[in-house]
Amino acid sequence: MKMSVPPSDHEQALAFDIQSIDQEFLDDPFPTYKLLREHDPVHLNPDGTYFLTRYEDVVKAFRDPAMSSDKRVDFKPKFGNGPLYLHHTTSLVFNDDPYHARVRKLMSEAFTPRKMDELDPVIEGIVERLLDRLKELKEFDVVHDYGLALPTEIIADMLGVPEQYRSKMHHYSTLILGALDPIVSPEKLKAGHEAVIEFGELLEELIAKRRETPHGAEMGEVLVSLIFGEVDGRKLSPVELVQNCIFLLNAGHETTASLVSNGIGTLLEFPDQLQRLRENPDLIKTAVEEFLRFQSPLQIGNRKATADVVFGPEDNRKTIPAGSFIHTCVGAANRDPEIFEDPETVNIGRKPNPQIAFGMGRHICMGNTLGRIEGHTAIGKFVKRFPNLRPNGKKRFHGRARFRGLALLPVTVS
Ligand code: HEM
Repeated sequence: MKMSVPPSDHEQALAFDIQSIDQEFLDDPFPTYKLLREHDPVHLNPDGTYFLTRYEDVVKAFRDPAMSSDKRVDFKPKFGNGPLYLHHTTSLVFNDDPYHARVRKLMSEAFTPRKMDELDPVIEGIVERLLDRLKELKEFDVVHDYGLALPTEIIADMLGVPEQYRSKMHHYSTLILGALDPIVSPEKLKAGHEAVIEFGELLEELIAKRRETPHGAEMGEVLVSLIFGEVDGRKLSPVELVQNCIFLLNAGHETTASLVSNGIGTLLEFPDQLQRLRENPDLIKTAVEEFLRFQSPLQIGNRKATADVVFGPEDNRKTIPAGSFIHTCVGAANRDPEIFEDPETVNIGRKPNPQIAFGMGRHICMGNTLGRIEGHTAIGKFVKRFPNLRPNGKKRFHGRARFRGLALLPVTVS
């Protein structure tokens, strides 16, 4: 009788295909990242794209000037000429300079240290209100009742989105960012195209109002600088304006919501670390860095090589040829044992912690200070307010590959 031999780790790593990832990978991608990092760190997928998992390589891909973020060619087969194509190829994150630099400069006015200081008390106020409500509820879902609520309020305030539209933002964001996943069903693509149209119409309305009353902006200052600001004598076109606002709304709430929910979920999974944080609330800053490292809200980024670039460890160098599409696996880089001691363990006091959850280089996250402030306040105050925090059912991740966030985290606090 012929016995079938199970594939070795090396063979499994070589067989990885980004286009056929399964539920097991979506639930827990970290064992696969480890296999790839150890056995095939510059992995060539059957579709000709590359998957990088070492810290050094992912950092290089983010920093190397030969790496492009322009997705006009790569998004065509998936999105055709539809609204998702227009959206993703107009947002600053998927563009190179000079367009990227022009939009980034206009946006940066909303993220100065002074603006961040002004937001501090606003964030505290929202968090305290949310916590009062949760205390009354006693049993709730951390994701929907808490994690999503704070960043949605903040970014909607920054863009001046009225109350009645805010509940729709998460739905739009899930569809628009979800369309970036390696595998997307035709139904989801259709819904994604529709979300861009609906969201765009809503923003056009807001922009028209703001044009009429630029001085009544209050918190919606970022909208004002995007509408009226100029770089080298040029304003954003109406399409550039709308699509970058959509991007900002999505980028500003989805990832931060994941940081807050993933952080609280991680503390519940590692009760010794929860206890440690309760006893040392000053650890909140290093704790948030650790949550960003351990469950990075953006797991897989991407770049395109415009020249041949060499990656891989010294004894296994590989040249990625010009024109190749590269998946930069931040989630794997953030657990690379070459950089992080005991990377699969959570240590809320970890120092140094050079995690790269916000990316690196020209496209480094514009909201990294804001995301951190939200994380410190939301997680720190939550832990302090609820000394009897306990899980109240099974947690569940939302099951997308590029972004990692909980979809459900039921708890009781009484
Ligand atoms: C924990 C929260 C967050 C995480 C983990 C995160 C992660 C990232 C990452 C990895 C990138 C770089 C993508 C690339 O290089 O391809 C990025 C870009 C960006 N993020 Fe964030 N983000 C967070 C919060 C925010 C917030 C709160 C805002 C705004 C309110 C924001 C706005 C942006 C913008 C505008 C960019 C594009 C920058 C550019 O292309 O130059 N992000 N983010």
